[in-house]
Amino acid sequence: MTPMNPNWTELKKQPFGPYVPDEVLQYRSDEVEEILKWSAQNPIPLPAEVEIGSNRGCFLLGLARGRRDVSFLGVELKSALCRVSANKLAREGLDNGHVIHADAKLAIPILFQPGTLSAIYVLFPDPWWKRRHARRRLLDDGFFEMAHIFLKPGGCFVLKTDVLDYFEAVDEYLQANPCFERIDIADVPGSETWTHSTRERHCLEDNVPYKSLAIRNLATDAASQVKTTLTEKKLIKHNYRM
Ligand SMILES: C[S@@+](CC[C@H](N)C(=O)[O-])C[C@H]1O[C@@H](n2cnc3c(N)ncnc32)[C@H](O)[C@@H]1O
Repeated sequence: MTPMNPNWTELKKQPFGPYVPDEVLQYRSDEVEEILKWSAQNPIPLPAEVEIGSNRGCFLLGLARGRRDVSFLGVELKSALCRVSANKLAREGLDNGHVIHADAKLAIPILFQPGTLSAIYVLFPDPWWKRRHARRRLLDDGFFEMAHIFLKPGGCFVLKTDVLDYFEAVDEYLQANPCFERIDIADVPGSETWTHSTRERHCLEDNVPYKSLAIRNLATDAASQVKTTLTEKKLIKHNYRM
């Protein structure tokens, strides 16, 4: 197990301190410091949008091509895939596209101020079918709390998935969540420029059905939303059928 960082209280004083749980600052401080280092070398001008799980960069590339006046950040857990995406962006000279190797739940609070992101995209998230892996699922209460804090009022969240039970669970959860309002996916700014992600292309080629939803963030006082339990949230009760 990673030893506790004896200086974690210094990290707590940084602007992201209130949004990152103490145990993450204590035991995942190496990751936090990597993200801070990356951030110092890669400023991301606003307006900015984030794709979580950017994989090989297929969707990210389309975003960056489509609106050169917007910054797009892909956040991806697998470093080899980050290199693939970064190379594609560099080959096309798309300096409004960026990729960071990090856990998005950590990277977003560290890289952005509350109320600043224009959009967050999650395309075909890993379903983590098994009960014992459920805690690894990206979309839980803590995720949507973070999205509400870091999206600007009017900012959008977009989900696509071919795990239809996952979709229904998130859909039902969001319908009951007063922080967001449902919008037509075509009303998400820039949607006319989107390209298909890798998984979406495979679904289309193999006739695998998938669903999409978009929500708009509603304004509330971000400060009143501060919680320090991003990793401790109850999970949305996904009840998948395989
Ligand atoms: C099933 S793949 C989908 C990839 C791509 N979005 C697509 O539609 O083809 C899920 C991707 O999300 C990444 N991922 C999962 N959890 C993540 C997290 N917390 N932060 C960043 N990336 C994550 C995985 O490494 C993987 O590349």
